[in-house]
Amino acid sequence: MVKAIVLYNSRTGNTKKVALKIAEGLKVESHDKRNIPDLKDYDLVVLGSWVIMGRISFGGARYLRKVRKKIAGKKIALFFTSAGPDEIHWKTENKVPKTIKEIMFESMERIVNKNQNVTILPERFYCTGAIRMFGQDRDKIGHPTDEELEQAKAFGEQLKELLED
Ligand SMILES: Cc1cc2nc3c(=O)[nH]c(=O)nc-3n(C[C@H](O)[C@H](O)[C@H](O)COP(=O)(O)O)c2cc1C
Repeated sequence: MVKAIVLYNSRTGNTKKVALKIAEGLKVESHDKRNIPDLKDYDLVVLGSWVIMGRISFGGARYLRKVRKKIAGKKIALFFTSAGPDEIHWKTENKVPKTIKEIMFESMERIVNKNQNVTILPERFYCTGAIRMFGQDRDKIGHPTDEELEQAKAFGEQLKELLED
């Protein structure tokens, strides 16, 4: 049987809600940043964080760097939560406009990949968060919705099937 675990950092609880649902789909445990367990027995580590000012939060980056020390030889699946719609393009360092999704997954990958012995799966998950950042985001209140949480669970189930193949 494949052993997997979900690890996340979350400030206001959105990433936690999503992490718990992914873990439910995978039928495995999840842990927040206060508890990074010994990962030697795990095949898959699902890693989640959240967005601040259009990029990964400092706490999230610090957390991924800590986890990175323990994940040699593992498969990694990434997820995040945010508030803004994904169409927003932010000015990046090299002036190439990118969506939050691209920025987040690229920065999470960059951090995790510094441990050269990991396999980052193409399967990934993200959803918008509960904070109202802008006037037009009024309808974001209440996210992640039940539907998004079901999608998170389905993502966990998808990972489980993939690893059991
Ligand atoms: C100070 C702050 C800045 C944020 N900046 C952004 C942002 O630039 N873009 C975005 O989409 N969401 C932004 N968010 C929203 C969070 O990414 C979103 O609510 C996320 O789900 C929070 O995760 P958590 O509840 O697990 O802490 C920001 C939230 C906070 C508190």
